[in-house]
Amino acid sequence: MKILVTGGAGYIGSHTCVELLKKNYDVVVLDNFSNSCEESLNRVQNITRKKLSFYEADLLKPSDIHQVFKDHKIDAVIHFAGLKAVGESVTIPLKYYHNNLTGTFNLLSAMDQFNVKNLVFSSSATVYGDPTTLPITEEFPLCATNPYGRTKLIIEEVLQDLYQSDKSWSIALLRYFNPVGAHESGQIGEDPQGLPNNLMPYISQVAVGLLPRLSVFGSDYNTPDGTGVRDYIHVTDLALGHILTLPKLTSKPGVATYNLGTGNGFSVLEIIKEFEKASNQKISYQITDRRPGDIATCFADSSKAKKELGWETTKSLEDMCKDTWNWQKNNPEGYRKHSKED
Ligand code: NAD
Ligand code: UD1
Repeated sequence: MKILVTGGAGYIGSHTCVELLKKNYDVVVLDNFSNSCEESLNRVQNITRKKLSFYEADLLKPSDIHQVFKDHKIDAVIHFAGLKAVGESVTIPLKYYHNNLTGTFNLLSAMDQFNVKNLVFSSSATVYGDPTTLPITEEFPLCATNPYGRTKLIIEEVLQDLYQSDKSWSIALLRYFNPVGAHESGQIGEDPQGLPNNLMPYISQVAVGLLPRLSVFGSDYNTPDGTGVRDYIHVTDLALGHILTLPKLTSKPGVATYNLGTGNGFSVLEIIKEFEKASNQKISYQITDRRPGDIATCFADSSKAKKELGWETTKSLEDMCKDTWNWQKNNPEGYRKHSKED
């Protein structure tokens, strides 16, 4: 089976490409490198000792997408490509709407035209807004609290409409909780450009000495230690969720939604402690004000993915911290230094 992976050079995409190649799928990656670089794909091929096809192409250019479908008989598309920084999406919403929505519409039109109707879409737990009870199931009410989240919600709705109009589509909406960690080889991992927005990459940059200290955004939440609680999921477990979704897609048309999380919540202070243990480094931190828009607690009920896909997470918080540290200490400047030298 041949899988087109949009955004395959990015953080989750590159880890998914590894697992696809390991399972002997043929992989075609389309990425414009707006938030990644070719080095990640070189490393995917090093890890697996297998080749993938790659297009430096932009979803905003329909002719780029058409070229890929002309060159390859694609069986299914895993669509990761998109912009994902929540804060930035508030400042430059039009760029987010254009890139994420127009990019997706162009992809869907090309898929329609080339009769490729199997799609896995990267959605996010952000579509649940601030849930009133926990754990979160797929049936919870949806609400967008920022332009990034709204692009996810809009695309989910568009995909439902698309299926209603043509019942030969088979679509999986995967709602990720908080992806962290890196491949166990330490060769690929998360490589944020500029100051990290998310907790784990921030902590690992403090541990490696790139940043002086972490700001803990609020200690007065209604949680056991007052800091925010999230459902952190190892990126390899997340990648495997995509692999298990593919047979389901190709066996039966429809739109199915799955939460991909561990079901466990950890606080910011618990993450700091676990990371200190994994890295043997002291993480300097200070308590600051809450970050606007943050919620107290968020964790998943992923029993539907277990029941219908046979998917379960296997990696612990210790694995998540160890693998993040292994990637960070071996690649203190991410892929950049290596790319320049080569
Ligand atoms: P990432 O930025 O590392 O990867 C996205 C990739 O898409 C990048 O390689 C980027 O260059 C590419 N891209 C962006 N716009 C493009 C375009 N117009 N044409 C072609 N390529 C384009 O992000 P990630 O963390 O790997 O996230 C992948 C997907 O998962 C995104 O859709 C994101 O919104 C979603 N998601 C991520 C998280 C998370 O915390 N990382 C959580 C929930 C959902
Ligand atoms: C972020 C995104 C959300 C996305 C989710 C999954 C924001 C505002 N939200 O959520 O849309 O679905 O990732 O990837 O970016 N924290 C600190 N200090 C830091 C960074 C974070 O204390 O420097 C705290 C936060 O307050 C939160 C926890 O750490 O309690 C996790 O934060 P983060 O990694 O940014 O993820 P989310 O806020 O869950």
